[in-house]
Order: sequence, then C-alpha cells, then structure tokens
Amino acid sequence: MSPARQATDCDAPIGVFDSGIGGLSVLNALRAALPAEDFVYVADSTHAPYGERDDAFISARSIAIAHHLRDAHRVKLLVIACNTASAVAVQGLRGANPDWPIVAIEPALKPAARLTRSGQVGVLATRSTLASARFRALHRRVTEAQPQVRFRTVACNGLATSIERWAISGNDGTACELLDRYLGTLLAPSDDCEPIDSLVLGCTHYPLLRPQIAQRLGPGTLLIDAGSPVARQAERLLRAAGLLRTAGDGAHLPRGRLELATTGGIANLHAAARRCLQAPAGTGAAPINFSVAALPI
Ligand code: DGL
Repeated sequence: MSPARQATDCDAPIGVFDSGIGGLSVLNALRAALPAEDFVYVADSTHAPYGERDDAFISARSIAIAHHLRDAHRVKLLVIACNTASAVAVQGLRGANPDWPIVAIEPALKPAARLTRSGQVGVLATRSTLASARFRALHRRVTEAQPQVRFRTVACNGLATSIERWAISGNDGTACELLDRYLGTLLAPSDDCEPIDSLVLGCTHYPLLRPQIAQRLGPGTLLIDAGSPVARQAERLLRAAGLLRTAGDGAHLPRGRLELATTGGIANLHAAARRCLQAPAGTGAAPINFSVAALPI
C-alpha cells in the first residue's frame, strides 16, 4: 500500500465495508450511535462470499477496498464490518496504516460468556472466521478466563449467500432451510450438554435475519451480535483523535449523508438497502436517503 493520506478533518466520512450487504447491520448501529456523521459503505458483492475463500484472496480484496476508501474518499476512520475480513486482514491493514483508526469486528464471545446462565453458547460464523488464528486466540482467551462456558461453533456455509438473495428478492426460503439445518445441530437434545441459552451471530449478515433466527430458538435465548460494541469503539476512537462530528442542538437532529457503492449490481444493492437499513430512533417514518454507485475495483 502507498503511504496513507489520512483525513484530519471532522467533516470527512467514515468508511465501512463488507463482502456484501451484511455490513448494513453494522451500519445501522453506527448511524444510530453517530447520527451526524457521513458514511461511505462498500459492498464487495461480486467477490462474496468471503467466508468460503482463502486468506490471500480475502486479504487482497480487503486491502483494495480499504485503499479505495482511504484515497478516493479520505475516510477518517475505517470500519471492517465483516468478521471474516477482520480475522484475516486487520493486522496487515493496521500495520500499513499506523495512524489511521481502524475498527474491526469479532464474534461476540466475551459478552456471551458474561451473559450466559447455562454456560452453553452457540456460535454461528463463516468457515473462514472459525478457522482463523484470530478466532482461535479469542476463543482461548475467553475460555481461559471463564472455563465453565462451552462454545459450540457451527460453520454456516451458504448462509451469507442466501441472506444476500433474500435481501435483494425478499425470498428467505433457502436461508430458512439453512437456518433449520445449522440451528438443528445446536438445538438437538443431547445427554452430555444442556441446551444453549445464548447464540452469537458471528457474521454480520446473520443479524439481518434476527426474527427468523429468534423464531427457531427457545424463549429467552439471547441473540448476541457485535454491531453496538463496534459503534461504541468507533465513537471512542473518533473522540480520542478529535475527529468526532457532533450533532447540533434542538429537536431536528442533522443526519449525515450516506453513500453506498458496490462491485456488483447497483439495483441489487439498492433493493437490499431498502430492505435492511433501519431509520435511527427519533427520525420517525422519514425516508432513508442514500445514493448507490458502481465501484469497478
Ligand atoms: N459478513 C461477513 C462476515 O461477517 C462475511 C460473509 C461472507 O462473505 O462469507 O463474516
């Protein structure tokens, strides 16, 4: 990567990317926490799913997109809204850009270990995330600190892709079949362990199907994702760097601008954003304004 040209200006946007539309779940949390900020979101839909690719590919794509956000948009902070890309590429990106605040996401094992009562926690994630050294190190740290907690991981091949299809078409049939299969392995009665009481959604696509997932679990099972912790960390880093853009006073909160870009089809991202973007609290039924552009990288 060429030397970074970091933005030092509060008015610069925040850059967010994912392999596809999954990061919109993180973008919702970011926009709720940081209502005055502008965001540029990149969906690398032509190259999704990352979770079934090798590390070299995921790393190269992450660098290309981060580089684009840094140089073309001069984003003041980068959010890797993808567990798979975070696991594989964040270390390299931080090493190459030491002065650039970068927020990565990881499956929320720590909050789950705090919240579980039965000590049985399910973890849904991509194959690549679960196989990564970063995930294994996280798992080791958390289970060393809380040895009574057992994490039962399931690699959900195909689930992110089926969620992409649902987001575009509204048809969740394939995603629901896969959920039945993957959750079935966690919910099946067994002699040697109690049922899970908490489920970590370790891929940013999965919270987009929260109602469908909740419907398949026992009452009171906690669904835990990392969108809000990521938004809090983004706010902390911006504040520490003196780069936080604050909302003005008064009832009419200014809303930042939202630009979406995709390496895939513009119409697909448009449809997915209409389905998945949530209006932050306090904005009532006001339409969510965004632009969508093609990104040929
Ligand atoms: N949304 C991504 C994640 O959080 C990856 C999904 C995929 O492309 O496999 O891991």
